Amino acid sequence: MSRNVIAITGASSGIGATFARKLAPGHDLILIARRKDRLEELASEFSRLYDTQSKIVEADLSREEDLAKAAEYISNEQRLALLINNAGFGTTGRFWESPLEVQERMHRLHIMATVRLTHAGLRNMVARDYGGIINVSSVSAFVRSPGTTSYSATKTWMTAFTEGLYLELKGMKSNVVIQALCPGFTYSEFHDAMGFERGRLAKSGFWMTADQVVEASLDGMRQRKPFVVPGWRYRVLTAIFSKLPTRARLAFEGITGRARLANTLSAAATVPKKLDGSETE
Ligand SMILES: NC(=O)c1ccc[n+]([C@@H]2O[C@H](COP(=O)([O-])OP(=O)(O)OC[C@H]3O[C@@H](n4cnc5c(N)ncnc54)[C@H](OP(=O)(O)O)[C@@H]3O)[C@@H](O)[C@H]2O)c1
Repeated sequence: MSRNVIAITGASSGIGATFARKLAPGHDLILIARRKDRLEELASEFSRLYDTQSKIVEADLSREEDLAKAAEYISNEQRLALLINNAGFGTTGRFWESPLEVQERMHRLHIMATVRLTHAGLRNMVARDYGGIINVSSVSAFVRSPGTTSYSATKTWMTAFTEGLYLELKGMKSNVVIQALCPGFTYSEFHDAMGFERGRLAKSGFWMTADQVVEASLDGMRQRKPFVVPGWRYRVLTAIFSKLPTRARLAFEGITGRARLANTLSAAATVPKKLDGSETE
């Protein structure tokens, strides 16, 4: 019997690779990212262990031609059961201090790639009344801070976009499920690439593994939850934040954000390569 297909962007590391590892048994995959060698390694591992067929799509989703190519695979795959819009990156430093190109690239990747692939995925799945989409957003959608302006803004957009689609699908009693996954600090290559000092936070219990994040997401899909915030600490934090009066929220975001900004700037200062371009993938 032919298997369902799962498409994952940013499958070459971290949360995306963990989704791929969890879902490879019993599914075929479309693995999308720029690092083709990493995708090939995963594909051969899954083929050996589970007989999984993986289509590798080498694509920089912030580039129009590559995005169009990825969207075509998603549109045409009649066995598509799940699309995971996961590719993303962070930046260090204040908005105007980091190159405009990096800021624009983040908006293209987090927003335009999500729009394009979700449109392709939903046209495909709604017609069959089957499937699901996971948009990997962030706790930053609820708790903003200086130094993460574009990141928080694009992740807030992603969460609002998912909510709108949830309402549209629910309104037509569709079986297609959609989720905004909102992780907090997660061990992956994300912060390592930023040169971010995670030592202190690691002791605070706020860090989670990609495995915990992915388990929470898949569990949420089974329960058709539109928002999944993995970890009780983050659930408490986001619940409190959404109830705070604006002035209190801004004061808190300012205090915690200043500490975080100082932390990232001093960490980045020890990694000159990253400081130049403020690019943090
Ligand atoms: N780690 C955290 O603490 C955390 C917290 C909240 C949310 N998130 C979100 O989780 C998602 C996954 O991040 P991660 O933590 O797993 O980080 P990661 O290990 O750095 O993985 C990021 C993935 O995105 C891909 N990617 C980046 N730019 C791309 C581009 N232009 N085109 C195609 N693929 C691109 C990377 O692949 P290539 O480099 O091979 O292209 C990589 O596979 C991101 O959306 C991030 O915002 C992470």
